[in-house]
Amino acid sequence: DKVLQIGLFGFGVVGEGIYKVLHQTPSLNALIKKVCIKHAEKERNAPAALFTTDYDEILNDPGIDIVVELIDDAKEAFTIVRTALKNKKSVVSANKKMIAEHLPELLQLQEENEVSFLYEAAVCGSIPIIRNLEEYYDNDLLQSICGIVNGSTNYILTKIIDEGLTYVEALQKAQQLGFAESNPALDVEGKDATNKLTILLAHAYGIITRPEELLHLGITRLHSTDTRYAEEKAYQVKLTAQAYKLSNGKVAAFVLPQFVKAESQLHGVKNEYNGVIIESKLADKQFLYGKGAGRYPTSSAVISDISALSYDYKYEYKKLNRKEKYAITTSYYLKV
Ligand code: HSE
Repeated sequence: DKVLQIGLFGFGVVGEGIYKVLHQTPSLNALIKKVCIKHAEKERNAPAALFTTDYDEILNDPGIDIVVELIDDAKEAFTIVRTALKNKKSVVSANKKMIAEHLPELLQLQEENEVSFLYEAAVCGSIPIIRNLEEYYDNDLLQSICGIVNGSTNYILTKIIDEGLTYVEALQKAQQLGFAESNPALDVEGKDATNKLTILLAHAYGIITRPEELLHLGITRLHSTDTRYAEEKAYQVKLTAQAYKLSNGKVAAFVLPQFVKAESQLHGVKNEYNGVIIESKLADKQFLYGKGAGRYPTSSAVISDISALSYDYKYEYKKLNRKEKYAITTSYYLKV
């Protein structure tokens, strides 16, 4: 079998994780040919000859089959991914902000260039949520998705409520552990969760929307009275992303902090874990659970995408091509 040659952009928390995992797992039949980084002078735990600061050394190398984009900057990431797709390379990305903000353009690029673009790591870290929505659930039967999709805020809430840390201490820990975005406002203001919900809506219901269209509130405005109230009632406070099919054929979608009762599976989702409850007509409720942030859990999803490319897997976006379309509504309701 052909060994897949990878060009990697970014050598941060996840980028270095992928390098280590691929390096130690020869059975994957893929190797990293070049790594494009921003700052050449930084010390790195890999041979210097692997690195370049020149995008073109990857994007214009006909020997490179797959571009793995794991940089922070969403604008630059889009430029890289667009060029890679135009150059007929398959792309794997974990950049939820870039994907959520450019879904229509990315769909068009995939269609025009007939290449595969996979991003399982962009939503819920290690949990195979996109693949499941793509392949398992029929959207007529899919009633709702409700989950914790941001690891940092869940980690922060757990540390404050269960261990009595202050907000600042908990946030700092989430940053040190590599869970938080480099701009943690994206996490705590609910924007990262909204980006993830935007991506989920495409795969769950065929809805293409922009993150700014979705109602969202993060955890910054939670008050100590909220956590005290939760404690009294034995609830947990969780930042949830939700999408509900309404009887009028629309889908209500939002990201909001919520009180979660003890009988909900989300109640036990702690620290950087994510959990998503999917409700469908036939299956009733199913619960997907796993680590939603961090080097190796996120690498696990990237590796799974790379492996899927070895058998030419593509998202089919079947739900986008339905005659009857679901539309987003801004009206919503909350359930404890
Ligand atoms: N900052 C993100 C989170 C990283 O905490 O969930 C994983 O997407």
